[in-house]
Amino acid sequence: MSVQTAMSREEVPEEISAVNLVDPKTYLEHDMDAYWRRLRADHPLHWHPPVDGAPGFWVVSRYADVMALYRDNQRLTSEKGNVLVTLLAGGDSAAGQMLAVTDGQRHKDLRNVMLKAFSPRALSKVAALVRVNARRMIAEAVRRGEGDFAAEVAQVIPLTTVGGLLGVPVKDHAYLLGLTKSSLSSDEADQAPEEAFLARNEILLYFSDLVAERRADPQDDVISTLTASDINGVPLTDQDIVFNCYSLILGGDETSRLTMIDSLYTLSREPEQWKRLKEGSVTLESATEEALRWATPAMNFGRTALVDIEMAGGTIKAGDVVTLWNTSANRDESVFDDPYVLDLGRSPNKHITFGYGPHFCLGAYLARVEVKEMLDAMRTFSNGVELTGEPRRIHSNLMTGMSTLPVRFLPDEAGLATADS
Ligand code: HEM
Repeated sequence: MSVQTAMSREEVPEEISAVNLVDPKTYLEHDMDAYWRRLRADHPLHWHPPVDGAPGFWVVSRYADVMALYRDNQRLTSEKGNVLVTLLAGGDSAAGQMLAVTDGQRHKDLRNVMLKAFSPRALSKVAALVRVNARRMIAEAVRRGEGDFAAEVAQVIPLTTVGGLLGVPVKDHAYLLGLTKSSLSSDEADQAPEEAFLARNEILLYFSDLVAERRADPQDDVISTLTASDINGVPLTDQDIVFNCYSLILGGDETSRLTMIDSLYTLSREPEQWKRLKEGSVTLESATEEALRWATPAMNFGRTALVDIEMAGGTIKAGDVVTLWNTSANRDESVFDDPYVLDLGRSPNKHITFGYGPHFCLGAYLARVEVKEMLDAMRTFSNGVELTGEPRRIHSNLMTGMSTLPVRFLPDEAGLATADS
């Protein structure tokens, strides 16, 4: 098994078409910044050649183009998948049932039902839980002094958050965490695709059982709200609910976890920015937005064209797969001043980390709460953080980030004294 680290990556090859965006290794072995700069400047609509028998696809890298295509659910569809693995396989079995891969009126109706389940009351309850958890876990980690922030803090908070929202019993959190990790990306380079497939099936089975339990004995949680919901008088089926629980747990866990890990890693390398956060010369809100732009954990999402689309000097043909690169759009120099500089006070900061338009992330509020509470607890309980080893990067063509983060915290004793109050 190859061990990849966060640092020490090579420049991408000169020849754009030699860069294979399907292969997770590409992101581990190369520093992609130069590639995206070149694409934005000279190839804003790039045709990625077919690899391994899968079809080729379009790569869209400029902020304005990515926004325009996210917004356009008339000429583009999500129903043939919204991530590379399903798009290139030609479809998603949850199409028309799972929110992210549903379009048109059904998407609007389903989104309204889900938004009701995310009521301000449900969200404020979960947000309070996030604050308590983040403060407790980070205070404990700082008191311990050294440890793996990914394992000890960042992997617990998001799952507790979405688990709390859905009503997943705490005893099952660790089991689900293992499954979500195998489903989307992998900590290991050599994980077989069947493992991801099996993990996804196990998540679906798990939620089938939980939905049956909630139908019999409703509680104050999202699953119970969904079991009582209907669209035009037709109740949601068990399968509708199970697919959407699956999407919430996958959508809400890894993305937030990777953002928290990336934020701490970045702060360990940016003493000036840490100082601004610690001293309160930037607001927690602006620091959170910049942490989200900086991390951009979901590198890309995709669509399939329903008709021919002219853009950026080229033609996307009906039936073609189009990928929208958040990772590039969030560094677009025509939108962000000094995009490769971390500025916790950045304003405006209209990053595209949560997508845009009709499929804009349903969990954006909760994700923001998680990152904000993590940053707040860090600046309250710690005087700084330093790396004690090389972090490991995940293996994925969808997500980016690290699966381990060995660190040492410098305690802020006055702050820690307030931890239990
Ligand atoms: C959609 C990113 C956290 C649930 C999306 C999309 C992006 C995204 C880019 C758009 C996908 C598309 O257009 O095809 C993120 C990031 C997060 C995060 C970066 C954390 C930093 C969450 C959380 C939840 C969640 C915490 C659940 C509690 C969803 C759902 C959708 C979605 C259900 C589909 C919305 C729709 O299709 O209408 N997310 N997400 N996400 N996200 Fe998130």
